[in-house]
Amino acid sequence: MKIAIAADHAGYEAKRELVNYLVEKGYDVLDLGTNSLESCDYPDYAIKCANEVANKNAQFGILICGTGIGMSICANKVKGIRCANCQDNFSVQMTREHNDANMLTMGARVISVDKMKELVDIFLTTPFSNEPKHIKRIEKISQAEI
Ligand code: RB5
Repeated sequence: MKIAIAADHAGYEAKRELVNYLVEKGYDVLDLGTNSLESCDYPDYAIKCANEVANKNAQFGILICGTGIGMSICANKVKGIRCANCQDNFSVQMTREHNDANMLTMGARVISVDKMKELVDIFLTTPFSNEPKHIKRIEKISQAEI
């Protein structure tokens, strides 16, 4: 399974740890930067990562910025992306089961790297419920896309 991952300067250190974690677990990881603590613009990295997922070059995308909020706003502008900003286990489970989220954002200034690892594990291993009511709702999201 190929996972695209990106961060801004606020999420850089957490991303580096998560990349190692995912590689050790056997995932094929596409690291799209940033690659230093130098200040950068989170939309550049969020949109790059979202495009990889939307183009099906990666099955899932993971984004880390200070809060996760800015990057989730950006990713959700890309057609085909359902990106959830989550900082707790239940929300991650629900966004896979109910929303079939294909991207996860997290905040490096909100939660620890250990918590991120826990959330990423849940995100990557929880299947979509495939219930007709959830399929119908996701179709409505797609219909709203320009
Ligand atoms: C960078 O200071 C910060 O604004 C960014 O990482 C993120 O939290 C934006 O939503």
